[in-house]
Amino acid sequence: QKGGFDHFMLKEIYEQPQAIKNTLNGRVAKGEKIVLDKIADGDLKDISRVFIVACGTAYHAGLVGKTAIERLSGVPVDVDIASEFRYRNPILDKNTLVMVISQSGETADTLAALRLAKQHGCKTFAITNVVGSSVSREADFVFYTYAGPEIAVASTKAYITQLIALYIFALYMAQDRNYTDKETLENIKSELLLLPEKVKKALETDALTKEIAEKICVETDIFYLGRGLDYAVAMEGSLKLKEISYIHSEPYAGGELKHGPIALIEKGTVVIALNTNAELRGKMDSNIKEVVTRGARIVEILPDNFENAGEGCDELITVPATEAILAPVTAVVPLQLLSYHVAIAKGCNVDKPRNLAKSVTVE
Ligand code: M6R
Repeated sequence: QKGGFDHFMLKEIYEQPQAIKNTLNGRVAKGEKIVLDKIADGDLKDISRVFIVACGTAYHAGLVGKTAIERLSGVPVDVDIASEFRYRNPILDKNTLVMVISQSGETADTLAALRLAKQHGCKTFAITNVVGSSVSREADFVFYTYAGPEIAVASTKAYITQLIALYIFALYMAQDRNYTDKETLENIKSELLLLPEKVKKALETDALTKEIAEKICVETDIFYLGRGLDYAVAMEGSLKLKEISYIHSEPYAGGELKHGPIALIEKGTVVIALNTNAELRGKMDSNIKEVVTRGARIVEILPDNFENAGEGCDELITVPATEAILAPVTAVVPLQLLSYHVAIAKGCNVDKPRNLAKSVTVE
């Protein structure tokens, strides 16, 4: 059942290249328009605003989706935690698309958010992994990620395929709107098709993340730092670590450090710094310096095409370079592996962490 792996989580991490292929299959091809199941040309042409609503890891995928949709299609996107969305009287109308993201398709708050959107006359779109799940039955449009069954409570391949689904959706919205030039869209499409191979390469960080995990597993607090999309990935990395290793962990946006969190940094504090975006690199390097000066130990995640990588960091993890907008897909892989190895080093029950259920069907 575990295909030779010790845990479902590790098996599912290693299944990611194939899972990505499954998500891309039949939807993205070079030089061709994006095809979405059962969505006719023009079905989404009146959409002037998108709400992405989800919980946990799926919410983190939504944060990446916001940037992708806004940058490529110019349509404004809000991202909400489902349990907040449903009780805050959001302003919704018939030109709003409410997109729910749910691996299981059964999460109570996400389903309630979908129903609320329908009551307001919004168009609804579900990204889910489970064929026939409640959200897939109730939404107007469904995008199946086809990641295959995810057994481990900690979501890995579901997250990565949600990212792919969101990029595909962003490209779909973009091709209808002429907001981004065709060449840029084609480049992103070509890079998307290379991601299964690049994620396979990113899995080669396994041994290094194990070594790092054995050093940091004794920590009681670990911080994640990033800017832009790296901040969204930092949130996911931090959640993964806390849910399976029970180490307290927080993600921060680099620019927020001075507004409070830097007070927490002392000699030896471990900071996982994501630094994948060339445009933000200078700013992020300064943030890294700020925490190094206060004694932090840095594990830095960088693409393999950055020059002078790793100055001032204690551990350097490189992942295959890709388009900046797609970087979360490769950057998250070492974070998943790191969490897994930390949890193993601590003797935790990786596949079934305490107090957590795979599917949260009650509020
Ligand atoms: O099935 P869903 O995607 O709706 O689940 C949402 C969250 O409960 C889920 O992502 C949770 O945060 C995971 N345990 C994270 O690894």
